[in-house]
Amino acid sequence: MAGFVTGPGQHQTTAMKICLNDILFALSFALDAVEHELLGVSTNHGKRAALLATMVGSRMGLSGDELTDLACCAILHDNALTEYIQARELASLNNSAEDPELDRAHCTLGENNITLLPWRCNITNVILYHHENADGSGPFGKNWQETPIMAQLVRLGDVIDARFNLDHVDSYKYQLVTDFLKSMSGQIFTREMGEAASEVLTEDFLKSLNSGSLDQLISKTVPSRTEDLGLEEVRKIALLFARITDYKSTFTSTHSLGVAQKSELMARHYGWDDEKTTRFFFAGALHDIGKLIVSNDILEKPARLTNEEFAMMQNHAFYTYVILRKINGMSDITAWASHHHEKLDGTGYPFGMKGSQLSHEERLLTCIDVYQALREDRPYKQGFTHQKSIEIMSSMAKDGQIDSGIVDDMNEVFRNDTGGSDSARDPRNPETFRGAGSERSEDHPFRVKESTVEH
Ligand SMILES: [Fe+2]
Ligand SMILES: [Fe+2]
Ligand SMILES: [Fe+2]
Ligand SMILES: [Fe+2]
Repeated sequence: MAGFVTGPGQHQTTAMKICLNDILFALSFALDAVEHELLGVSTNHGKRAALLATMVGSRMGLSGDELTDLACCAILHDNALTEYIQARELASLNNSAEDPELDRAHCTLGENNITLLPWRCNITNVILYHHENADGSGPFGKNWQETPIMAQLVRLGDVIDARFNLDHVDSYKYQLVTDFLKSMSGQIFTREMGEAASEVLTEDFLKSLNSGSLDQLISKTVPSRTEDLGLEEVRKIALLFARITDYKSTFTSTHSLGVAQKSELMARHYGWDDEKTTRFFFAGALHDIGKLIVSNDILEKPARLTNEEFAMMQNHAFYTYVILRKINGMSDITAWASHHHEKLDGTGYPFGMKGSQLSHEERLLTCIDVYQALREDRPYKQGFTHQKSIEIMSSMAKDGQIDSGIVDDMNEVFRNDTGGSDSARDPRNPETFRGAGSERSEDHPFRVKESTVEH
């Protein structure tokens, strides 16, 4: 168990029971949505890539923690695609999925990101080399002897599912997969791996993917690992997903991180214990994870959203609920995170809850979210000062939308926060962002009033 510093002179040792598979498989829905937007893969791509990789890996002698870590790497193989999107905008790279620069950039960023997770095995270079081919023709030019077997297995699972879209398999598609395994042995993957794949990826097995039993197949193949993780490790998992979410859009480049940090500060203010503080930090970090499902065409549209687009934007809070509710033991975090757009007067979304249904923690996360959004620079506004942000929030509280007592508490905790927007640490310059001029338009639906700054 890892230590957790609680304040000057205090040090508690505590942990949370976490099933990493559970978390990653739930979040794979969001990661798939990003890969779908950029590369066109279908729903559950990450899970299927993990299943194929672990089945073939098991045939080749991997077991126990190796299979669990392999499945987690397969789920996270493209964890840095959102960062890549940003890097591409900065570097004005072309938009080709075949671009080796794309492959190298997201591999390098993704390899770095996953060091935040608690691994049991050595997963060095697994994400870095997940696009390498056995014959050395991949983006880094590494052959099978220079790449870890887990990287080769992720490559196999990823390429087969992306190429053949295994969410529906018939006899014809099975034949295509079989032919592909034969023809690419010695090129994309080794002959040994191609043979192992041919043995386990039978027609019956591939057709069984049609039956919606993917989760059952995964639970049979991938050993589940529930363990007591130190709170610092839990925080790192949260930070990884805050980072992935924040890189989705230049509009909100440090938003999740800021909400998480302020959630922790408010939790400390209320004297919550370390575990509850960490759980609240987790909720703050993941509250907008549902934005990964919303297209950047909507998140960054430099003009008025249509009613339909606005509804899709609002859906992000519901997606946060859909994703987090699948994680066992996190019902409190799910509620805190997914109700962050609910308002006391029932005008919020996605559920239109009333104040009597909203706990102190839910009301608090709503206020933190609003405050963070007001303080941030956006392409269409400079971040507001603390004083101005509290004025706006007090007006919202007066209108019956948010909790006035919490606004007072936040005024106390953050009154000396003169640092301005967190986005100063981001190298991207909002002024050069496309459509920056039009972003100041007063008629944008979620930018009409200061109190409705998108968050
Ligand atoms: Fe990739
Ligand atoms: Fe993929
Ligand atoms: Fe938010
Ligand atoms: Fe939100």
